[in-house]
Amino acid sequence: MQRVFLETYGCQMNVADSETMAGVLVRAGLTLVDRPEDADAVLLNTCAIREHAEQRVLGRLGEFAHLKLTRPDLVVGVAGCMAQHLRQRLIGRSRVLDLVVGPDGYRHLPDLLRRAAGEPVAHVRLDRDETYGDLEPRRTPGVRAWVTVQRGCDKFCTYCVVPFTRGRERSLPLDDLVRQVEGAVRDGFREVVFLGQTVNSYRHGAHDFADLLRAANDVPGLARVRFTSPHPSDMSERVIAAIAESPRVCKHVHLPLQSASDTMLKAMNRTYTILQYRAVVARLRAAMPGLGLSTDIIVGFPGETPEDFAATARYLEETRFDSAFLFKYSARPDTRAYQWPETVDEAEKGRRLQALIDLQHRVSGELNDAALGREVEVLVESVARRNPAQLYGKSDEFRTVVFPNDGTAPGTLRRVRVVGATPITLFGEPIDAPRPLTLTLGAAPFRAPSAPATTPVAPIAG
Ligand code: 5AD
Ligand code: SF4
Repeated sequence: MQRVFLETYGCQMNVADSETMAGVLVRAGLTLVDRPEDADAVLLNTCAIREHAEQRVLGRLGEFAHLKLTRPDLVVGVAGCMAQHLRQRLIGRSRVLDLVVGPDGYRHLPDLLRRAAGEPVAHVRLDRDETYGDLEPRRTPGVRAWVTVQRGCDKFCTYCVVPFTRGRERSLPLDDLVRQVEGAVRDGFREVVFLGQTVNSYRHGAHDFADLLRAANDVPGLARVRFTSPHPSDMSERVIAAIAESPRVCKHVHLPLQSASDTMLKAMNRTYTILQYRAVVARLRAAMPGLGLSTDIIVGFPGETPEDFAATARYLEETRFDSAFLFKYSARPDTRAYQWPETVDEAEKGRRLQALIDLQHRVSGELNDAALGREVEVLVESVARRNPAQLYGKSDEFRTVVFPNDGTAPGTLRRVRVVGATPITLFGEPIDAPRPLTLTLGAAPFRAPSAPATTPVAPIAG
């Protein structure tokens, strides 16, 4: 057992978890490889948030079953939320699987992999004290570093499997997190993204999330701080003030709404009314004019009437989010809502989803058009994937911006004037000379042998 292929599905938290796993494996003397064909063990870090996520992984396992025909000693493992969710059902069902490891078992991965080479192994105990705070992640090189500040969730929204797959909420000590941010800066990262299921309920000892944002803001050499996903009920005045008053904390909030109908919010156990959500948005916008705002919506929750749905559509129209992740409800075993009969059929869910996609596309287009002529600050991430003559980056408000490639290095902040727009991209022209990277300290970022094979697209549940 020497070479491991690690593939990541799901949200940014899973990407961060894979970096923790990579750190554990490399420290134990194992090697990460880029292709399953070159590996002694393949490990899928999985998501369970919707049924579709699990089906993709089952499909991938089918491919590994094929590979195993010619390589019978290949160890195949499933890690993460789906592993925790399906537990013995996975081990018992699939002849291809040798290892099932939940989100709290990664510390033991080298040992588990070795044992799995002999007989099927499962580690699916949740551990309310495990934070991996003492483990060095092996970060994928780039501009942005993920820093998990809190694990688990205590909110128990009735549709959501996360409290069952990731267990109880616990936060890491503030000092340890500041050290992680400093370490990321030393490794060449320019932006950190604080991750937690309800990240703004972060609390350790006397420190809350506002303290953490302010502490990160003061780390020398860091260009930007972001965070995801906050919960509307935990958006305190202290947190709003910390975002507003910290120049390096980006003026973008991803604030999951789920539905704008109070009946649905209550059935979902979201703990706020639409009036309260509206008040949070008003306070955020009053403190930060021009704030970027995005959200998550679920359509077709059990009991959602056309009127409930219309309230959500009206609210999106009125609030004008910059962007929204829109989902069809997917019933998840173990959750409360799983026991409730579904009242919206697939076709109607599809129609509701499409209506919101069209609405949001139009609103995003209008907002991006309104940005024409404005100046934005872009943190350059890379050459644009589709056009190497362009550079790609994000504005402070998390809008995607591309502008002509003048050789500016990734990690550089540029001021750009918006000269063109589509609903998803702003096109810019630089209005400053490229500035050298004076603040990059220490060694160049580690070049991991293995970039994530799958780019996760889902937001973190919040
Ligand atoms: N079905 C559909 N969408 C879901 N989400 C969470 N659970 C479900 C589910 N069972 C969505 C929520 C959350 C986002 C990450 O995924 O909108 O904010
Ligand atoms: Fe927790 Fe977010 Fe899931 Fe609600 S949606 S249970 S807040 S992870």
